[in-house]
Amino acid sequence: MVDVLLGLQWGDEGKGKIVDVLAPQYDVVARFQGGPNAGHTIKFDGKKFVLHLIPSGIFHAGTDNLIGNGVVIDPVILRKEIEGLNDAGIPVAERLLIARRATIIMPTHKLLDAASEKAKGDKKIGSTLKGIGPSYRDKVGRYALRIGDIASPNFKEKYAEAVERHKVLLAAYGMEADYAEMEKAFFEAIEFLSNIRLTDSERFVQQAITDGRKILAEGAQGTMLDIDFGSYPYVTSSNTISAGACTGLGVAPNQIGRVYGIFKAYCTRVGSGPFPTELHGETGETLRAAGSEFGATTGRPRRCGWMDLVALKFAVRINGVTDLIMTKADVLSVLETIRIADKYKVDGETTEWLPYDLESNIEPQYRDFAPWQSDITEIRSEGEIPASLKKYMEYLFAELNVPISFLSVGPDREQTLDMRTY
Ligand code: GDP
Ligand code: IMO
Ligand code: MG
Repeated sequence: MVDVLLGLQWGDEGKGKIVDVLAPQYDVVARFQGGPNAGHTIKFDGKKFVLHLIPSGIFHAGTDNLIGNGVVIDPVILRKEIEGLNDAGIPVAERLLIARRATIIMPTHKLLDAASEKAKGDKKIGSTLKGIGPSYRDKVGRYALRIGDIASPNFKEKYAEAVERHKVLLAAYGMEADYAEMEKAFFEAIEFLSNIRLTDSERFVQQAITDGRKILAEGAQGTMLDIDFGSYPYVTSSNTISAGACTGLGVAPNQIGRVYGIFKAYCTRVGSGPFPTELHGETGETLRAAGSEFGATTGRPRRCGWMDLVALKFAVRINGVTDLIMTKADVLSVLETIRIADKYKVDGETTEWLPYDLESNIEPQYRDFAPWQSDITEIRSEGEIPASLKKYMEYLFAELNVPISFLSVGPDREQTLDMRTY
């Protein structure tokens, strides 16, 4: 069986932390979409790691970490990430596998990303500029280079053809660059990756299932950034929802077991686009400071807001969430009033279902909750949860009809309450 863990909001819900916590219960941890736009933070033993392409099971001996076919890979970033982990004593090559069908991000994809964002002006998406959109565009356009092509004797020709195509586009945008420098780093990284095992992810995963091995699929970004169901066009370029685990690894729908949906006790968003419950004033600033809400990939300040139950309900439904994981409840300790938006008023009409256009005239309707205003970072059992936080959680359970299986009360691996009843 394949269990899936994914974000229910706009990303950065704490996926990396929880995958690392769950990893010892799995034989394989696999990324199924996205690329180095992701930044997954893991803390333990006073150390901090931020992973972009490597699955968050990499710190556990005996766990295979697979970068699946649905992922877009920047060889230069992957090399840097592997070297950084090797320096910290993690034997990455023993634990990592890459799908041959995964798409390669070329240096020119990053230039195209920058050119496209610049051309969009104040309508820019706020992309991480890692070449995600342009590389997925080439994949869907049937032009992309894939990891398996590296072994081909005419890989360099294929690469050169793609660069020529990209140069035409870049010229249209009026963009010029030093291609030689970028190419050098790219081909050195390609060479470096020859030390990493390649596989056909569908075959690897199917064999693992046959052998009774347990697989955890690790999502990147979040449901509200999904290419189909997110706040389009302010989204990323892949399916971040549970269905993406099927196409991004080669898994059938009936091979999916649990779906862990992770969310913060409030909301954040980095980049542009609608955010109905965003807090523009002092409360938002307080949350950003208390939650250290700065992007793990770009360092940009994250926009902060109240929990959005309309968006969360939508996310729980379309992902088929079986278990909820709430993170960063400790951050809300700094507030005197806590709110949840339980409905939207759209053009005067009340709705609990996410509307097509999130940029329309939405007025979130709020419900107030008593604060907990106490340090919960040291609690480790359900009995220690303050009564007001318990009420907050009970309300969410009643509304979402899915149990909260884990509560995270701090960034460290240890700061986690396992409340599973199975
Ligand atoms: P991801 O992209 O979903 O893996 O999340 P990020 O790593 O981008 O952002 C989550 C941030 O919150 C990181 O800095 C984590 O170390 C931190 N974090 C995770 N869980 C908790 C928690 O329960 N409490 C607090 N205070 N921080 C947390
Ligand atoms: P993790 O996995 C938060 C956002 C960007 C931008 C939009 C498109 O760490 O949760 P892209 O680079 O994909 O073209 O950017 O999506 N974004 C993320 N926001 N967490 C992420 O990943 C994100 N990956 C992309 O800020 O608004
Ligand atoms: Mg992140």
